[in-house]
Amino acid sequence: MRILVVGGGGREHALAWKIRQSPLVSRVFCAPGNPGTARVAENVAIAADDVEALARWTADNRIDLVVVGPEAPLVLGLADRLAAAGTPVFGPSAAAAQLEGSKAFSKEVMAAAGIPTAAYGAFESLEPALAHARAAAGRVVVKADGLAAGKGVVVCGDMAEAEAALRSILVDRIHGNAGARVVVEERLTGPEASIIALSDGERVRVLPPAQDHKRISDGDRGPNTGGMGAFSPTPSVDDALISEVERSVLLPTVREMARRGTPFRGALYAGLMLTPDGPRVLEFNARFGDPETQPILMRLPGDLVPALLAAARGDLSGVGLEVDPRAAVGVVMAAEGYPGKVTVGDVIEGADGPFPPGVQVFHAGTKAGPDGRTVTSGGRVLTVCALGADRADAASRAYQALTSVRFRGAQYRRDIGRAGPGEGT
Ligand code: AMP
Ligand code: GLY
Repeated sequence: MRILVVGGGGREHALAWKIRQSPLVSRVFCAPGNPGTARVAENVAIAADDVEALARWTADNRIDLVVVGPEAPLVLGLADRLAAAGTPVFGPSAAAAQLEGSKAFSKEVMAAAGIPTAAYGAFESLEPALAHARAAAGRVVVKADGLAAGKGVVVCGDMAEAEAALRSILVDRIHGNAGARVVVEERLTGPEASIIALSDGERVRVLPPAQDHKRISDGDRGPNTGGMGAFSPTPSVDDALISEVERSVLLPTVREMARRGTPFRGALYAGLMLTPDGPRVLEFNARFGDPETQPILMRLPGDLVPALLAAARGDLSGVGLEVDPRAAVGVVMAAEGYPGKVTVGDVIEGADGPFPPGVQVFHAGTKAGPDGRTVTSGGRVLTVCALGADRADAASRAYQALTSVRFRGAQYRRDIGRAGPGEGT
């Protein structure tokens, strides 16, 4: 088989690395990829959101399966284009990707399907949004409706914060049209977990649960980021909870999307808060998580390609997923300045090993420099992942490996997968 992975981050490097190991696969391509994917796949110089060029390239290159990493091409209809041309694609249609593309839509689906989530209102003008926030004394979460690169959510503690957030999104339009509508949610408390399932539009296969660390600094402090590290499994999610989430969240969502004539095929990611009253959905994503995918895939010893293909073709019934009982931890190394404006072009040393067995370093914001050396090119630069007997062991192996990877200004959290804040209080 010839498989194209769309995207160029750590998630896509992990996917390409995993797909490369399949005996079914003859060639793996990655568009646009990065220097890490170049070691396991052939990079194709097409941007991940250039739907036209990707569709043309796929048709010209006899691709048997396209696996889409990021949300932007999904929302733009890449899966629809490929499916219309007869290419199996792992990733939902534009209509189904609205589960991530519009928070108001996803809340409406959750309400229709009876899925446990925070109470909310959706607003297009300031006054009613303010009134809704006031009724909760400002202890609300304000969310831009559309895609805002993970920056569209503001957790507010009082009315001043809620008003500032509403004004900046709805009036000042800091996220452009993504903020033409806002969702104002009840503010919940509890540990968070990411549960991601493969779906064929009807059935689901739940992947091992993971926990992300969104804040830049140790102890879950500082501004939100795209994710500074993740681990799997997570102490807050046991098998009973996974079954409950499958029964009360994932399957009802998939059924509701099918009922609407827009079946969801791809990775359905439920971002959950584990409240004292049970799990509540904070968000859906229509794709694999980043950095969650990196440690999750390290825990899947089997061939992932039959599962991706089965989901793409709409029949996961014959597919099971074997899970490695060991733990995996992934620590993100970010560039100086992240999550603000970052410096780029710093030479990276040691990113390609050699590393001991059970260690993988996935590239994200890297590129080949002028003299052929790998340099930094974005905020999240690398994810250093390791398997270990338990989470503490995996963390210590990941941090050990991390000491041999160096670039100027590198910042990373010291507490990923370690006891304390990682428990998600
Ligand atoms: P989201 O992009 O919707 O997952 O939101 C980003 C982050 O905001 C989440 O990981 C939570 O930490 C926080 N958050 C979102 N919704 C809520 C909520 N209803 N209550 C408390 N925190 C929330
Ligand atoms: N790690 C969070 C996300 O992928 O959305």
